[in-house]
Amino acid sequence: MVTVTNLHKRFGSQKVLNGLNLETHLPGIIAVLGPNGSGKTTLIKSLLGMVIPQKGEIAVNGKEIRRQSDYRKEIDYLPQIANFPGNLTVKELIGMIKDLRGKPARDKELIAFFGIESFLDKKLSKLSGGTRQKVNIVLCFMFDSPLIILDEPTSGLDPASLIKLRELLQKEKAAGKTIIITSHIMNFVEETADRILFLLEGVIYFNGSITELKTQTGQDDLEHAIAQILT
Ligand SMILES: Nc1ncnc2c1ncn2[C@@H]1O[C@H](COP(=O)(O)OP(=O)(O)O)[C@@H](O)[C@H]1O
Ligand SMILES: [Mg+2]
Repeated sequence: MVTVTNLHKRFGSQKVLNGLNLETHLPGIIAVLGPNGSGKTTLIKSLLGMVIPQKGEIAVNGKEIRRQSDYRKEIDYLPQIANFPGNLTVKELIGMIKDLRGKPARDKELIAFFGIESFLDKKLSKLSGGTRQKVNIVLCFMFDSPLIILDEPTSGLDPASLIKLRELLQKEKAAGKTIIITSHIMNFVEETADRILFLLEGVIYFNGSITELKTQTGQDDLEHAIAQILT
């Protein structure tokens, strides 16, 4: 579904992606891991055309994305930092995004699922970080697209909401979707991801299952396996 070939991205003299290759064809949950600043968000934004690489190709569903925008209609994206307009209410923002995308939306179902009905008339600037993140998640998942890209969806969520998010991801996976996710919560990744891509020095340093990663590093939990890669 997503193919990345020899991707290079630098900001000024700083090389962030350095000949990165990637292929996802099967449905399922792919976790992109790597230390802070390793280029996870840069990779994700490149897939969405929000960052323009200096070199390399990206294809989504077999089509090169350069100078294209229609392919984005089939992608749902959760940004790492959601700069919501603070003066809008949650309800107004959801309405605005629905108008912009012009697709059927299952917002009511998701609002109930995350229990944020009582915040619908509140201004976004007044919400706690966790509630803002739940709004971010509702906005992302409401359009039912086949490819879902989530940049740190777990940030700010309490344990009960993490369980809900995991449940939602499993449901989407069962519906045959491809989900690309970054997260710093290793037990969340361990319980959800089918495949790990570990980004280091601008390339995919490891690409495989959690079991393979544990075997290869001789560690029996994901946190230690990741730490082992870094030493
Ligand atoms: N727009 C930008 N301009 C300059 N440097 C950037 C920009 N975006 C990201 N970077 C730099 O690229 C590196 C990778 O960032 P990022 O992709 O956000 O990493 P990650 O998501 O893995 O933490 C960081 O050093 C960051 O400071
Ligand atoms: Mg990031």
